[in-house]
Amino acid sequence: MLRHLLSLTDITPAELHDWLKLALEIKAEFKQGIERPVLRGKTLAMLFTKASLRTRVSFEMGMRQLGGHALYIGPEEVKLGKRETAGDVARTLSRYTHGIMARVYAHSDIVELARHASVPVINGLSDTEHPCQALADVMTIMERFGDLRGVNVAFIGDANNVARSLVYAVTMLGGHIVLGTPPGYQLPADAAARAEAYARQTGGSMVQIANPASAVEDADVIYTDVWVSMGQESEETIRKSVFPPYQVNDQLLKGARPNAMVMHCLPATRGLELSAEVMDGPQSAVWDQAENRLHAQKAVLVNLMGGG
Ligand code: CP
Ligand code: NVA
Repeated sequence: MLRHLLSLTDITPAELHDWLKLALEIKAEFKQGIERPVLRGKTLAMLFTKASLRTRVSFEMGMRQLGGHALYIGPEEVKLGKRETAGDVARTLSRYTHGIMARVYAHSDIVELARHASVPVINGLSDTEHPCQALADVMTIMERFGDLRGVNVAFIGDANNVARSLVYAVTMLGGHIVLGTPPGYQLPADAAARAEAYARQTGGSMVQIANPASAVEDADVIYTDVWVSMGQESEETIRKSVFPPYQVNDQLLKGARPNAMVMHCLPATRGLELSAEVMDGPQSAVWDQAENRLHAQKAVLVNLMGGG
């Protein structure tokens, strides 16, 4: 059956558990030099309308490690929606490749790609979701805590694409998440309702508050992301005036649990959303997160492209 990963809500909490188990297995095998060439002869088209380092390289290396091949298509080549519609791009790529990973601005573009593709479509970040990032993030938390149940995660800053996917992942796995966000930058009501529904199902929780110091109380994990996401450049001045009280720094960390893990999807801006001391300090897990993108996404590729 043709399946896509446009949002973590495309899979069930049970499937999320299975995919993460597979990701951890794949990582362990990789560390031992054991190969899993299950995508031999298969090609993934990687369509980018925005910049990327981690997503591009981890998907390309992931495909290679699974025995397949990845093809990079940059923003200037396709000009999605300008030179050609998303639907026509999807129909064409489906004739050449076995899967499409795309990074887009409007989430509706990835939905449109999936609607017309006859191969799996994977969201490599849209304006509202970053599911592959969230998979790597909860995988990194599991490596430290074993399980999300009973783990307190605080997301500080802008309730953006990364935050939304993280909130879904944490609540799907029974964890607790508090968003410390300025008024006006909270999670949209539909996303909050969805996360609350997962939390009711799994015994987790999701709360949004404005005070960052209260948000990190009892936190095992403190997560932050940029204040100005790709596509929001025109809001830079206003955002840089709103978000400074939400910087993750040594003082904020003191209010969390001792040795709380600090996370950031990267790229980061030291001195804005987190201080250089915290980013480069002993509590930072940002490189482990980046590494886990590779293995979490191999689990996605195996699940969506591995059959037949
Ligand atoms: N975290 C992340 O998606 O990084 P890139 O934008 O570099 O791909
Ligand atoms: N929120 C950021 C994440 C980048 C990986 C952005 O959308 O630019």
